[in-house]
Amino acid sequence: MVPTFKIAVLAGDGIGPEVMAEAIAVLQRCAEIDKFDIDLNESLVGGAAIDATGKALPEDTLSNCERSDAILFGSVGGPKWERLPPKQQPERAALLPLRKHFNLFANLRPAICLPELSAASPLRPDLVQGGFEILCIRELTGGLYFGQPKGTHEEHGETVAIDTMVYRRSEVERIAHLAFGIAKVRKRKLVSIDKANVLENSLLWRSVVNEIASSYPEVELTHLLVDNAAMQFIRAPKAFDVAVTENLFGDILSDELAILTGSIGMLPSASLGTGYHGYYRFGLYEPSGGSAPDIAGMGIANPIAQILSVAMMLRYSFDLNDTAARIESSVRKTIAEGFRTRDIHSEGTRLVSTKEMGAEIRSNLGRAPSLKASSSMPDQ
Ligand code: IPM
Ligand code: MG
Repeated sequence: MVPTFKIAVLAGDGIGPEVMAEAIAVLQRCAEIDKFDIDLNESLVGGAAIDATGKALPEDTLSNCERSDAILFGSVGGPKWERLPPKQQPERAALLPLRKHFNLFANLRPAICLPELSAASPLRPDLVQGGFEILCIRELTGGLYFGQPKGTHEEHGETVAIDTMVYRRSEVERIAHLAFGIAKVRKRKLVSIDKANVLENSLLWRSVVNEIASSYPEVELTHLLVDNAAMQFIRAPKAFDVAVTENLFGDILSDELAILTGSIGMLPSASLGTGYHGYYRFGLYEPSGGSAPDIAGMGIANPIAQILSVAMMLRYSFDLNDTAARIESSVRKTIAEGFRTRDIHSEGTRLVSTKEMGAEIRSNLGRAPSLKASSSMPDQ
């Protein structure tokens, strides 16, 4: 029987709808080629939802997500909603509650610098020659983002703001198991990043990661303090393969890794939880970059991060590794042919629009030989 995958499509704000249109067209073409059915259901989210309903994450949107096997997410936020009270803004009122609601504790951000794009990296050519690939695994539902108490109050005549960093052993254990499991099927090297010279949270993090390491003797584990890690990624990106870290450190380091690859417009992400909908592992898939309001509606955004997010969805939620590899190799082929959106354009390459990039990638789908999956998921 041909399977049907039910997908909630939340394009959101800014460049979200433009890049989403290209990603959906790629997904539809893949469904034709590889013969599976998709049931796409669009919902409003973020600023677009605030404008239409007054809420960044309306109940209808949440129930669409609950009925689906996976969420394909664009991006939310923009200047139009920046004057709302912080708790009502699209990022805090839509994205964070979605992550928490579905317990999406593991955020995978593959920072891949393709050899053809190494000139787009701000790093010295000798540091990035031949490209590099670092998978950043960020814990996504703990730490400072969600810890209580949280808030702002008056104390002795001045304003005090509090965010609380909390990690439980079980939260560190599950992300560590996931990271070791992935490292095991890649280059068997894992770096765990913390701030164990200052933070109690990091002492717990480090001791739990060390404990879990004994179940994965084949994986070489190292620890780096976060400030040093920020420096080492720049000094020697090719020395790394898989990195695991807590929520805020992962937020910051994944942006650093993104720009080291050349453009944040190339980076997909997968947010995975413990949940299964029937056979399917539930997940939320979104570009690592934001809504880029400065270029929204101009047709120049890079759709690759959104397209590669589709590939991650096919791999991690639907186990369609060959189709995921088809998309990834088609992206690589299109880049190798010289097509570039503005963010990665350089002399001697062909500048194309969002739509043209999408069309080129689609036209290469049928031709692209399926490569072996570069980052497959171990059984949980
Ligand atoms: C990200 C973003 C979000 C985060 C924002 C929009 C809340 O920066 O996904 O990295 O901090 O997690
Ligand atoms: Mg971020």
